[in-house]
Amino acid sequence: MPKQRIFISGVAGFLGSHLADAFLADGHEVIGNDNMIGGYLDNVPDGVEFYQFDCNDFDKLRHHMKGVDIVYHCAATAYEGLSVFSPHLITQNIVGASTAMISAAIANNVRRFVMCSSMARYGTNQVPFTEDMVPRPQDPYGIGKYTAELMLQNLAETHGMEWVIAVPHNIYGPRQKYDDPYRNVPSIFINLILQGRQPVIYGDGTQKRCFSYVTDDIDPMKQMAFDPACAGEIINIGPDDEFVTIKELAEMVGRLMQFDLTPSFTKGRPREVELANCSADKARRLLGYEPKIRLEEGVGQMIDWISHRGVRPFKYHLELEIVNESTPETWSKRLF
Ligand SMILES: NC(=O)c1ccc[n+]([C@@H]2O[C@H](COP(=O)([O-])OP(=O)(O)OC[C@H]3O[C@@H](n4cnc5c(N)ncnc54)[C@H](O)[C@@H]3O)[C@@H](O)[C@H]2O)c1
Repeated sequence: MPKQRIFISGVAGFLGSHLADAFLADGHEVIGNDNMIGGYLDNVPDGVEFYQFDCNDFDKLRHHMKGVDIVYHCAATAYEGLSVFSPHLITQNIVGASTAMISAAIANNVRRFVMCSSMARYGTNQVPFTEDMVPRPQDPYGIGKYTAELMLQNLAETHGMEWVIAVPHNIYGPRQKYDDPYRNVPSIFINLILQGRQPVIYGDGTQKRCFSYVTDDIDPMKQMAFDPACAGEIINIGPDDEFVTIKELAEMVGRLMQFDLTPSFTKGRPREVELANCSADKARRLLGYEPKIRLEEGVGQMIDWISHRGVRPFKYHLELEIVNESTPETWSKRLF
């Protein structure tokens, strides 16, 4: 593949920065932005032409997308639980930001636009979720992601831009924010235990999820930039085995950290989906998706990374728009 100029939004974030590394290693040019509402500045790999600004700033996007071949839209406020209590904050960085990204890309004749959606699009569908299901999102985050998908398909098809929608789910690994009280459950457990504190579980801990280690997802996501078979496709990215409960995850983290675990249980979060896992059949067929890192190994590597980087206090950096009796006290009373 000749050298491409690739724009990655949210490049200081977890997924965006790993994708940037991978494209740079292949000899491509990477340019990207981030408004630093999430992510870490030191995630941005050397070699990325980086600009700090918000994706809602259309003029800057249009300017910086000049000469870009491919766009990866990774920027988002990826906060599913919090979206129930801060719907305006969360969705303005999903619906508005995505629309600005799509419009700027089309205005610059970008060839292909790869959007990161979320498993939250499937909502209360039966597991395992398959790409042909009619989305039934259950919270503002999922509604926002699905709206952004529709916007991409609509505008891209009207104006002749190729599109791909990636549906990653529960990715974890180095560079993921671990001082954020609102999301990333394995990281929260690890950061709490490193501080000698017990994990907190919402509900009874029987909600089930599949987790995927970031290095397993980067190659298939990279392929989405170039493979003709991916154009116009929605593709789940993540494993469909090792379906674990949140309680089992906490037990695994405790065991690996040799911690005497007695998690505390707090009331469940409204709209949290009980069972959520995606079928990986389409990713296997189209992208040769084959995860290599088992959950226990990946969690071990995450523990090593956070331990090495150092424990951090949790930062309540986002505003709760709605505080009432259903707001988790871990947030309203800042218990982490
Ligand atoms: N990590 C996962 O498990 C997962 C699962 C499903 C979907 N996704 C999606 O993948 C994408 C990347 O997720 P991630 O885990 O890397 O999250 P992340 O929070 O680490 O990265 C997102 C980055 O986007 C930036 N950002 C947010 N709003 C912005 C805006 N308006 N303008 C500019 N920058 C903005 C944040 O500062 C952050 O650095 C997101 O779209 C997310 O919804 C992630």
